[in-house]
Amino acid sequence: MALRSPLTGAWKRASSTSPSTSATTYLSPQASRWRRGNATLVPPVTQNATGSKGPTAMVFMNMGGPSTTDEVGDFLSRLFADADLIPLGRLQNYIGPYIARRRTPKIQKQYAEIGGGSPIRKWSEYQAAEMCRILDETSPETAPHKPYVAFRYADPLTEDVYKQLIEDGFGGGKGGRAVAFTQYPQYSCSTTGSSLNELWKWRNRLEGKRATTGEVDPEGAIKWSVIDRWPVHPGLVDAFASNIEKTLATYPEERRDNVVLLFSAHSLPMSVVNRGDPYPAEVGATVHAVMHRIGMTHPYRLVWQSQVGPQPWLGAQTSDTVESLIKKKQTDIILIPIAFTSDHIETLYELDKEIIGEMAEGHEGVKRVESLNGNPIFINALANIAKTHLESRSACSPQMQLRCPGCLSERCLEQKKFFAGQVQHL
Ligand code: FES
Repeated sequence: MALRSPLTGAWKRASSTSPSTSATTYLSPQASRWRRGNATLVPPVTQNATGSKGPTAMVFMNMGGPSTTDEVGDFLSRLFADADLIPLGRLQNYIGPYIARRRTPKIQKQYAEIGGGSPIRKWSEYQAAEMCRILDETSPETAPHKPYVAFRYADPLTEDVYKQLIEDGFGGGKGGRAVAFTQYPQYSCSTTGSSLNELWKWRNRLEGKRATTGEVDPEGAIKWSVIDRWPVHPGLVDAFASNIEKTLATYPEERRDNVVLLFSAHSLPMSVVNRGDPYPAEVGATVHAVMHRIGMTHPYRLVWQSQVGPQPWLGAQTSDTVESLIKKKQTDIILIPIAFTSDHIETLYELDKEIIGEMAEGHEGVKRVESLNGNPIFINALANIAKTHLESRSACSPQMQLRCPGCLSERCLEQKKFFAGQVQHL
C-alpha cells in the first residue's frame, strides 16, 4: 500500500529474480543444512497422485495489488473500505471512497513507474504452485495439493476463489479439506485478521446459514484450517539471512563491518497497536531471529514504512531513518523488507525509487536486499510449514483464538470461533 507522493528514481535491480531464474539462488551452508533436514528442493510434479486424505486446497491469502493501472481505482476503493486495515470510524463508507478517488491518479502513476502493475499475483501464484509440488512429494497422504491465491483487495478476490473452490469439487455438499495459509508471516488483525474475516463472510454466504441455496451440512462443507502466523520459522529466517549475507558481500571488505541493517515493515496506526495487535511484537521476533542467525554482526534497527494520513502511526519511519543516517555520514545501509514475501509497490516504489533512487541519490552504499519472490529456501519453508500444519490436525494456532484486549468487533469474535471450531471436523 504505497500511498505517498511519487518521486523519481531507478528500480531495475529490484526485479532481478524471476520465476524462471530463481531456482539458481545460492544457498548458505546453514540453509543447506535446514533444507537437507526439512524439505526436498525440486521435487517432480505429482498432482495426479491422490492420498488417503487428499485432495487438499492450499489457499494463499494476501492483500494483493492491481495487476494493471486500470485496476488501481477498484483496489483502492476496497482497501479504504476495509475498517480492519484503515479504521476511519463511522464515516468509513463516505470517507473511504472519497480518499480512494482522490488518490487513484497518483497511485496509478506509481504503478506505471514500476512496470504497469504489481507483481504480487505473479509471485503468489508461482510460490503456491511450487509449494504444492513439494507438498505432493513430502505429504503424499494429503495429495494432491491444489494451489489457490485469494486476495483481499484485488483479483483474484476471496469471493471468486471460494466460488472456484466449490466449482472444483471442494465443499458445497461434497466435503473436502482446505487450508487458509496467510502470506503475512507476522499476524495482524489488519492483514491476516481482515483476510480471515472476509473468508468467513463468504463461507457463510456460500455454505453457511446465510447461503441463498440453503446451509450446507457441516460434513459436506469445506473443512477449513488456518496457518495464521510463522514469524520465526527457520526457513523464513534463513531466507532473509541469506539475502542479507549476499548483499553484505557486495560491499568492499573494509566497509562491510560498518554497514547498518534497517529492517523495514509496513507500519500500523497507533490506534491498532494500542488495541493490542500482535504484529509489532511478531515483526520484532522475526528481526531478532534473523540477527541471531547472522551472528548479531551488525548494528540494526526495525523501522516502519507506508504510513498514510494524519493519524499517529508506529515509527520510526524508514524514510526518516535513512535521511537521518545519511546526515550523520552513515551511508552504508541495507534495507530489508521483513514483512513482505514478494515484491510489490512498497519495495519497488517506496524503497527503490523514493528512498534509494531519490533520497539516497549519489550514495551507492544504500542498498536493498532482494525480496523473497522465487527464493527456493523460502518456498521450501512454505512447504515445511504446510506439512507440519497438515500433520498437526489443528484448526489454527492457540494464539489466534485470543482477541486483542481492546477488540470490540463481533466479527472477530465469530470468525475466531468458527475457525477454531473447525477442529471437530478435521
Ligand atoms: Fe484484534 Fe479483533 S481487532 S481480535
